[in-house]
Amino acid sequence: MRTFDFVYTQPDQLPDDYREQLWKFLSIQTCIEGGMADATGITAEGINTYPMPAAKHRHFMAFKMADEADHAYGLFQLSKDIGKDPHQLLHQVRVGEIKDRALDAFTQLDWNSSHLRFEVFAMLTEAAGGIASTSAMGSTYVPWAMWNARNFIDEGLTHSVLSMHNVRDLVESGHREEAQALMDEMYPFALDLFGAANTKNEAAYLEFGIKTMTNTECRVIWMRQMRERIAITGLNFPGDPYQGARGRYDECREGLESNWGAVRSDHAA
Ligand SMILES: [Fe+2]
Ligand SMILES: [Fe+2]
Repeated sequence: MRTFDFVYTQPDQLPDDYREQLWKFLSIQTCIEGGMADATGITAEGINTYPMPAAKHRHFMAFKMADEADHAYGLFQLSKDIGKDPHQLLHQVRVGEIKDRALDAFTQLDWNSSHLRFEVFAMLTEAAGGIASTSAMGSTYVPWAMWNARNFIDEGLTHSVLSMHNVRDLVESGHREEAQALMDEMYPFALDLFGAANTKNEAAYLEFGIKTMTNTECRVIWMRQMRERIAITGLNFPGDPYQGARGRYDECREGLESNWGAVRSDHAA
C-alpha cells in the first residue's frame, strides 16, 4: 500500500489531469452503484425483493438498496464537485441499451433473476468492491477517501458477508449443485473486476494517489478472501482460480500461494 506526502481537501485544489483521471474511476463506479441500486429494487423494474424467501432476506435487501442509493448519491456529488455530470451515465445504466462504462460482470451475467443467483453474485462482487475501496481509503483526495471508507464498511464488511451466510444457508438447504454451478460461472467475471495488470490507467491512479494498491495487489487479497469464504459456504474454490472471463491472472499465483495464513496462526498459538 502506497502513501503520499501531499493531499487535497477541496475539489478546486485538484490539478486538471487529476480530475480527468478521477472521473475515469468515478464514471465506472457510478455505473456499478447506480445500476445496483436500480436493479436491486429502487424502481418498478427492480424485482429483487420479491423472490427473497424470508423476511430476513428482504430486510437485508431493504438496507442494501438504501446503501447502494447512498453510494450512488455520494459518487454523484463527487462527480459534480469536479465539474462532471453523471446524469447520462446513470440514465444509460438504468434504461439504455449501451452501457459505456459498465463492467462485464454487471452486463454479461444474469445475476438478478433468483435469490441464489443474487447471493452468489453479491458474495463475489461486493467483496471486490470492499477491497477496491480499501485501496482508495488512503487517497490523496480526501472526499474520495471518505467515500471509500463508507463503502468499505458497507460492501466489504456487510453486504458481502451477509451474502456469504445466505449462500451457506442455501447450500445447506439442498441447493449445493446449483450454487456451485453459479459460483463457477460467476467467479471469472468477478476476478476481472479489478482490471488488467500494469495498465496505463493503473500507473496514473497510483501516481496521483487516487488509489494506493495495484490491480494485482487488490486481486490477490480478493482471491485469498474468496478462498476462505467459499470454504465457509461449503462450496469448492475454482480448480484454476487464475482464469478470468477476459484473460488469465497468473501473476497472482505467488500472492495466493504464499504463506501469510501460517504466519497468522503461529502468532495465534
Ligand atoms: Fe455499493
Ligand atoms: Fe453493495
